[in-house]
Amino acid sequence: MGSVPYGLIITRLAGHGDIREIGSGNIGTTNVLRTGSKKLAALTLLGDALKGTAAVLLVGVLFGRNAALLAGFAAFLGHLYPVWLKFKGGKGVATYLGILLGLAWPVGLTFAVIWIATAALFRFSSLSALAASLSAPLLLLALGDTLTGSVFAVLCALLWAKHHENIGRLLSGQESKIGQRSSTAP
Ligand code: G3P
Repeated sequence: MGSVPYGLIITRLAGHGDIREIGSGNIGTTNVLRTGSKKLAALTLLGDALKGTAAVLLVGVLFGRNAALLAGFAAFLGHLYPVWLKFKGGKGVATYLGILLGLAWPVGLTFAVIWIATAALFRFSSLSALAASLSAPLLLLALGDTLTGSVFAVLCALLWAKHHENIGRLLSGQESKIGQRSSTAP
């Protein structure tokens, strides 16, 4: 479930060609937005988030909380390293949120609030994702949910590692702002 690349499928079906040749080359919501279509970006966000939520809820109901954590981890890895795309997948932000909403929805809402506030202030999707993702393990550990917090610490580290190019561009002042259109991958 995690390795279904919704951004790639949706943009291709809509006639935008290969999203990996547009903007940052990423298959996620932010890059789909660079096609100029908010509708396709919203659909990508929904697909990438819901596959994480569905994985943890489904496995949670069938096999319990610990299995749900494992399913969330697997869905996240699937999105980052999809077998269909030679293991070159997305950066995991929407799927991270989806898993979080399925496992600890108040922490998921906090993630969304931090993302929106950071985006409103700085207009960088990557910076918003980095800040919001960090809040999840910290909050979960502070609330005493050590196991879920530890799992999210690992997911957060993977998400940050996947954003290494964004971090470089943020530091050098070359990161593009939300909604900025682009036609070629770097
Ligand atoms: O969701 C990924 C976002 O944080 C950055 O995307 O396309 O600007 O690399 P992008």
